[in-house]
Amino acid sequence: MSDPRIIGYLNRAVAHELSAVQQYLTQARLTALWGMDSLSRALRQEADEELAHADRFITRLLFHGAVPGGGPLAPVRVGRTVVELLLHNRDMEADAVRIYEEAADYCRRRGATEDAELFASIMQDEIAHLRDLEQQLYDSGDGDQHG
Ligand SMILES: [Fe+2]
Ligand SMILES: [Fe+2]
Repeated sequence: MSDPRIIGYLNRAVAHELSAVQQYLTQARLTALWGMDSLSRALRQEADEELAHADRFITRLLFHGAVPGGGPLAPVRVGRTVVELLLHNRDMEADAVRIYEEAADYCRRRGATEDAELFASIMQDEIAHLRDLEQQLYDSGDGDQHG
C-alpha cells in the first residue's frame, strides 16, 4: 500500500501547480490589458509549464492508485505594477521549492526513489523560475513600473 503521506504531498503538489496555472493565466490576461504583449506571452508560457508539472504529479498519483483530492486552489495574486506581480510570483515559486524539497527528502527517507526523483526534478524547474524572477526584479531595479 502506498504511503498516505506521499499521496498527501502529491495532492498538495497538484493543488499548488493548478493554483500557479490560475495565477499565471490571470496575470497573462491582465498584462495583455496593460498592453504588455511580450510579458503577457511569457506569463502564458509559465502557465503552460506549470500545467505540465500538474500533469506529471497527477500521473504519479494514478500510479499510486489515487486521483487528485481536488483541494482548494490558492487565491490569485495580481497587483497594480509589474514589480508587484513579480513579487507575488517569487513568493509562490519559493513556496513550491520549499514544499518539493520537503517532499523529496521524505520520499528519499522512505526509500520511495521514483517519487523523490519526481519532486527533485520539478523542484529544479521551480528553482529556475525563482532565479528568473529574481533576475527580472533586479533588472526592473525594483522600482515602480506601470504598464
Ligand atoms: Fe510548477
Ligand atoms: Fe514554477
